[in-house]
Amino acid sequence: APGAQKFIPPQADTIDQLRAAATGCRGCELYRDASQTVFGRGDETARLVFVGEQPGDMEDRQGLPFVGPAGRLLRKAVDDAGIDPGHIYLTNAVKHFRFELRGKRRIHQSPDRVHITACRPWLVAEFARLNPDVVVVLGATAAKALLGPAFRVTKQRGELLPWPDAAQRPEDFKRVPVDNTGKVADVPEGQLVATIHPSAVLRADDRDVAYDGLVSDLKVAATVLR
Ligand code: URA
Ligand code: SF4
Repeated sequence: APGAQKFIPPQADTIDQLRAAATGCRGCELYRDASQTVFGRGDETARLVFVGEQPGDMEDRQGLPFVGPAGRLLRKAVDDAGIDPGHIYLTNAVKHFRFELRGKRRIHQSPDRVHITACRPWLVAEFARLNPDVVVVLGATAAKALLGPAFRVTKQRGELLPWPDAAQRPEDFKRVPVDNTGKVADVPEGQLVATIHPSAVLRADDRDVAYDGLVSDLKVAATVLR
């Protein structure tokens, strides 16, 4: 069966070991055109974890998440929400850049459901090794990966959602396989806040309003940290 699961080594205990394994993932076709796998990074003991969509052009070149314009905006918003940007962990629902070539330009394409599903085992594996108090879900793709297809960011953004129940956390997030041997870990109690993706702020007609909305949603997440 396609998907990332078979690329996750049974004995990978740490995020670094997962990241190393993910360099060789061929769980969907996106590895073919992208430059490299872009895994999560940051403080592995972070109480706040962010889940974005997929790496962009800059992330694909540098191999690091959120190093481009959207990442810059996100870090500023995090700071403006009163959160220390040094104590977060950042990852994406999909770990390879999906794009369409137009001449020499690589135009971002949103991942399809098949890519989100294929890549989800990496996200599950990351969560099994992190211990956040609150997860910030950035945009529709991350929401699909974590909350299922019925969730609407526009309707439920900025609300502190108990996780698992009210967020309809998928079953495999309740008891996450630590490895392929069937060992499972109970995911820590946590909460979750969905908001718009920082790229949507960059594209908004009124960027100031969109930015303020993002910051105010992040302030909701920050309340869990105090
Ligand atoms: N957008 C994302 O969702 N993730 C990144 O890493 C960069 C841009
Ligand atoms: Fe593997 Fe995810 Fe990359 Fe697809 S997008 S090849 S599942 S890491």
